[in-house]
Amino acid sequence: MNMRFLDACWGKPVDRTPVWLMRQAGRYLPEYMAVRSKCTFLELCKTPELAAEVSIQPVDILGVDAAIMFSDILTPVEPMGMKLDFVPGPVFENPIRSMADVEKLRIPQMEQDVPYVLETIKILRRELAGKVPLIGFGGAPFTLACYMVEGKGSKDFAQIKRMMYAAPEVYAALMEKITTMSMEYLNAQITAGAQCIQIFDTWGGILSPVDYERYVLPYTTRLINGLNRMETPVIHFVKGSGAMLDSVQKAGGDVMGLDWHVNLGAARDLLGPKMAVQGNLDPTTLYAPQNIIEREVKRVLDENAGRPGHIFNLGHGILPTVSPDNAKFMVECVHRLSQK
Ligand code: CP3
Repeated sequence: MNMRFLDACWGKPVDRTPVWLMRQAGRYLPEYMAVRSKCTFLELCKTPELAAEVSIQPVDILGVDAAIMFSDILTPVEPMGMKLDFVPGPVFENPIRSMADVEKLRIPQMEQDVPYVLETIKILRRELAGKVPLIGFGGAPFTLACYMVEGKGSKDFAQIKRMMYAAPEVYAALMEKITTMSMEYLNAQITAGAQCIQIFDTWGGILSPVDYERYVLPYTTRLINGLNRMETPVIHFVKGSGAMLDSVQKAGGDVMGLDWHVNLGAARDLLGPKMAVQGNLDPTTLYAPQNIIEREVKRVLDENAGRPGHIFNLGHGILPTVSPDNAKFMVECVHRLSQK
């Protein structure tokens, strides 16, 4: 049984640094594309046998120390009453713009509305059979709100920021509803068998530290506090949080996800010995020749300087045009260079 990943989440010593890659199940793998070519992305998310199959692919192919269930952060938003499409980026036909829109959103009944997510987790626990632990995940309330209000990805996030500043009561009502939904969704994942939860706040870093504390922190804090996490560590990843790690730490959680804009050692000094960290190789390093990949893996390990509570990862998701051989080589480097 490979417990390295969970041990590191709890800050316990391990024989070698555990490693996985954000978005490790995806388009850079020909094996993923083979499954994906037969259905749409949403169909893949809603077919537990196939979702489980692509979740296990990176475990077998790359030798990573954890599996992450295959789904999307927007999967539970669709049953709130928002029609969702992927082209391949997510698109909501009718974005949230008013209090009436917020009031129409419903809190899904997880067993009835997203049974495929819970079933994927159950299949994965059975098929992984303790080989590596299983990570469940969800979007942080703010990142989900960004997509729900903008209706799609955005460069300036004008709509969500306009709502935040000009219609704070609508923003607060929306964030409350998303937080409640997320708490129930992630707790259902834990009940189904997820052994760790990662919260993705991909867009938290678009705000100033003051606005982060004002408009995001209260909701993420309520979410993390509401999770059944006695035996299930929580990883909190806020992309672009390097200049406000002290604020983000106030949300709680067991592991801080770091992007590549911070020095991992300096971040650890700031966060203190009780909080584990995950990260933080620049994802584009995987385009480099292997001697550079090895040098950069060693640099990140050196920044950690042997402290317990480090999970090696990229600083954001693996890019679709990366060579699987380089991803595999990165994993081997982490294992070889960190071996005690
Ligand atoms: O990590 C994993 O392997 C599990 C699967 C996973 C996906 N999305 C599958 C996916 C996870 C953890 C996510 C999270 C997610 N989804 C985030 C947070 C992480 C991050 O990268 O910041 C966000 C912001 C989304 C929303 C989303 N979904 C976007 C912006 C896109 C399109 C971007 C792109 O890569 O083209 C998706 C689609 C998506 N989600 C794909 C996959 C494999 C590609 C769809 C396809 O196969 O056609």
